[in-house]
Amino acid sequence: MSGGGPAVRRLSDWDREHLLSLADEFGSPLYVTDLRRVRENCHRLREAFPEAHVSYAVKAHAGRAVLETVREAAVDAECASAGEVERALDAGFPGERVRYTAVNPPDADLDHVVSRWESNPEMTVTVGAADTIDRLRERGFDGRLCLRANPGVGAGHHEKVTTGGHAKFGIPIDRVPDIAADARDEFDLVGVHAHAGSGISGDDLSAHRELVRRMGDLAREVGDLEFVDVGGGFGVPYREDEPPLDLDAVADATREALGEVDAQLAIEPGRYVVADAGVLLSRVNTVKEAPETTVVGIDAGMTTLLRPAMYDAYHAISNLSRPDADPVSTIVAGPVCETSDVFADGRELPDPERGDCLALGNAGAYGYEMASTYNSRPRPPEVVLDADGHRLARRRETLDDVTALERTASEHIPN
Ligand code: LLP
Repeated sequence: MSGGGPAVRRLSDWDREHLLSLADEFGSPLYVTDLRRVRENCHRLREAFPEAHVSYAVKAHAGRAVLETVREAAVDAECASAGEVERALDAGFPGERVRYTAVNPPDADLDHVVSRWESNPEMTVTVGAADTIDRLRERGFDGRLCLRANPGVGAGHHEKVTTGGHAKFGIPIDRVPDIAADARDEFDLVGVHAHAGSGISGDDLSAHRELVRRMGDLAREVGDLEFVDVGGGFGVPYREDEPPLDLDAVADATREALGEVDAQLAIEPGRYVVADAGVLLSRVNTVKEAPETTVVGIDAGMTTLLRPAMYDAYHAISNLSRPDADPVSTIVAGPVCETSDVFADGRELPDPERGDCLALGNAGAYGYEMASTYNSRPRPPEVVLDADGHRLARRRETLDDVTALERTASEHIPN
């Protein structure tokens, strides 16, 4: 295997005693991120795609410790908002290692990014509409520009994350060459881009291949480009029996589909870098015997980890406190009064008791990032692990934090 570690890190590979001690030390719910695994995943990507430019899609996990680890592992930052650009620069990425991908960008984002570009002129801006080019021009931007194409083909673990063929994303691919020709006069046109979707499995490889093939054709037609970016989307196995993606096979298929192009291949995975580097720890509040099942109420909910509620996503769950108890069929549910606030239904778990600590696997990607304060529930803290120990990377939000914004509300303004 490559120097980047194993192809997958399963929930059962985590050190149970260590996780239990972290839950004792920091309380629950608690996100735990292992920076060693973030580093390994970066290295594995770089080894599978040695010729490619690799960026990390910051949206998967924008925590500073993760960003610094990614930066040190020689992977660049792909940002989806002004906020992510700010966090990448703040984590020490120099402008030339930051790419901003604008999707229907609000004015405030463009204002901010252009102002940051003025002092970081090597930053790259990717646009998915001709209209966004006009808006950049109006703000005086004439720097490194990349055109996002809608390749007409997509893939992903759920229709809600299958972007490739959706009208919202990118310039219809057949219009890109004309727009590119125009843009060249005013901007430094450096690349073309497309993204199929998120959570692409081995079964979706044909869609990925088709996207790459179309992007290869586009890059040859447009010509004189620095890179052709085929997006992110590499899936990780969420189910315990699911095989990991064969990254070398994906890399080979990508190269073959791209064909000869006089531009560097670029990829921008997010999930792949952080998913199996994170777990969510949560304690059992309530155990209720219902006629058909045992309901296990835990102190994490859809506000902590949204993916099951939003995409019916599967996350492995283990009972760290009682690994050898007899398994029972359970519903694992959060504290929010919504039927969608359920992590698993019909899941066999070692008979849980109140106070037990459960771990939810693959929580590193789109976990904390999608957390909310719905139900006025403060967001959890995050602890990061490294070879030499652990530390609190982000404190637990307090009820005071949740109400803080209201304390600066204005006086009543009479009509
Ligand atoms: N590049 C672009 C332009 C993207 O829109 C995305 C993800 C990525 C790269 C990275 O995709 P990844 O390698 O992480 O699959 N919240 C959803 C995933 C949404 C992904 C959105 N775009 C989830 O939890 O499954």
